[in-house]
Amino acid sequence: MASILLGVACLSASAAAQQADVRPAFHFAPARNWTNDPNGLVYYDGEYHLFFQYNPYGDRWGHMSWGHAVSRDLVTWQELPVAIPETPDVMAFSGSAVVDWTNSSGFGRDGHPPMIAIYTGHNPKAQRQSQYLAYSNDHGRTWTVHGEVLNINMAEFRDPKVFWHAASKRWVMVVVKALENQAQIYTSPDLKHWTFASDFGPAGGRGKNWECPDLFELSVEGGAPGEKRWVMVINLGDNGVAGGSGAQYFVGDFDGTRFTPVADWGKAPRWVDHGADFYAVASWNDLPRQQDRRVWIAWANDWRYANTIPTYPSRGLMTLPRQVFLRKTDQGYQLAQQPVEEITRYRGAPTRMKAVSLSSNPTPIAIDGARSDLQVDLETGSAQQIIFALTDDKGYQTLVGVNPQVDEVFVDRTRSGPHFNDSFEDRHVTAVDLKHHKVTLRILADQSILEVFVNDGTHTISDRFFPGGGNLRWSVATQGGTATMNLTAWPLLTATAKAPAG
Ligand code: FRU
Repeated sequence: MASILLGVACLSASAAAQQADVRPAFHFAPARNWTNDPNGLVYYDGEYHLFFQYNPYGDRWGHMSWGHAVSRDLVTWQELPVAIPETPDVMAFSGSAVVDWTNSSGFGRDGHPPMIAIYTGHNPKAQRQSQYLAYSNDHGRTWTVHGEVLNINMAEFRDPKVFWHAASKRWVMVVVKALENQAQIYTSPDLKHWTFASDFGPAGGRGKNWECPDLFELSVEGGAPGEKRWVMVINLGDNGVAGGSGAQYFVGDFDGTRFTPVADWGKAPRWVDHGADFYAVASWNDLPRQQDRRVWIAWANDWRYANTIPTYPSRGLMTLPRQVFLRKTDQGYQLAQQPVEEITRYRGAPTRMKAVSLSSNPTPIAIDGARSDLQVDLETGSAQQIIFALTDDKGYQTLVGVNPQVDEVFVDRTRSGPHFNDSFEDRHVTAVDLKHHKVTLRILADQSILEVFVNDGTHTISDRFFPGGGNLRWSVATQGGTATMNLTAWPLLTATAKAPAG
């Protein structure tokens, strides 16, 4: 009896020692436990679905299952029970979901289209990965596993992205042979029978694993009238632009069978985001036609330290959903991203600062920095650097800097919080032409994540930071010389969970 009581006392003491951290308010994280990649992004009947790699039993990677959340505005999420659990032999790895509008699969019921998930079944005993199909007839709440639909007898063959290709009237799957750094395209009339169509890669950035491919079409801003191109996205588990996990893209054409990059695409990797915490990015299927936009979301993490980030009781976070744009400039095709416009509905009363002269004496920005949305127009003037600092009560700082001397914008988290991993403390840079002495920044901060959008989202830097505690306050200063700033800063008002209708 005494030993039982002692055991209970120890348990509660250790539980009390591990304090829950302040959660980001506008970024999805499960209530507890581990998450990695976003999965099964699909819109159906007023709801945006976000499934995610989830460990129901702990806050490190393992027991991979599909967690589930829904939202009506891409900002406020309601977490639902696990959608696709692991089975004794097969973990449910990453994949995608579609609405099978024509019931090509035959899994529909009562005249309603089924929701179909195609994901990787990972069998650790057999050391094999193959693609599985599961379906739902109740808005993604419960799922029936139909079973394996594509098996090429390979250990590292995963992350199917499936979509309907209207021109060829077929389903298309892009999936990776991870270790070969190769994507494969398959096609199907019914989501159950898949035929090999083509290979893509190796190309661009290489690493140990290619993971989580995506493929979609976008209109080209600044292109020929009516021009559209296809974007192939390949995530890389390591060797990304910031040293660890990262996402790269290719622009080209897709004929229903083969993806071909535009002629002058070149060999150098082009990165989607220049921070360390933007991985496994994937876009939504089936957004209503009248929205006419492509929206994607990433896991705000990096495999180098993902299992050790100091958060409790959940570990892992998604970025804000972002709208993706394709622009044609003097430098060729370029992706751009903006936070989805829905986030602006959560803005409180703005603080405006007009034509403020910046010097080495820090200028405070008078809003709550912990949940803030800053829109900044900078004239870099004679400044050698302009630094926005987000400072906590312990003196830890995360910096967003503009450096006209070397044409770059950066995030510096070398002193952003207590040390927990050697590869975390670093500076992440994107090259921005500052010769005209002008730059615009949109900076979104949410407790432990910064997302920086430079020049209308032409460049982005996404980084987490884990401050020491207390309030977070913004200030801005120059190093050497002066600069001029116009700024609008909004506090972001807390997103509260709303129950989805129906
Ligand atoms: C990417 C990834 C995927 C895999 C999943 C497993 O982060 O490694 O390739 O399907 O995570 O959780």
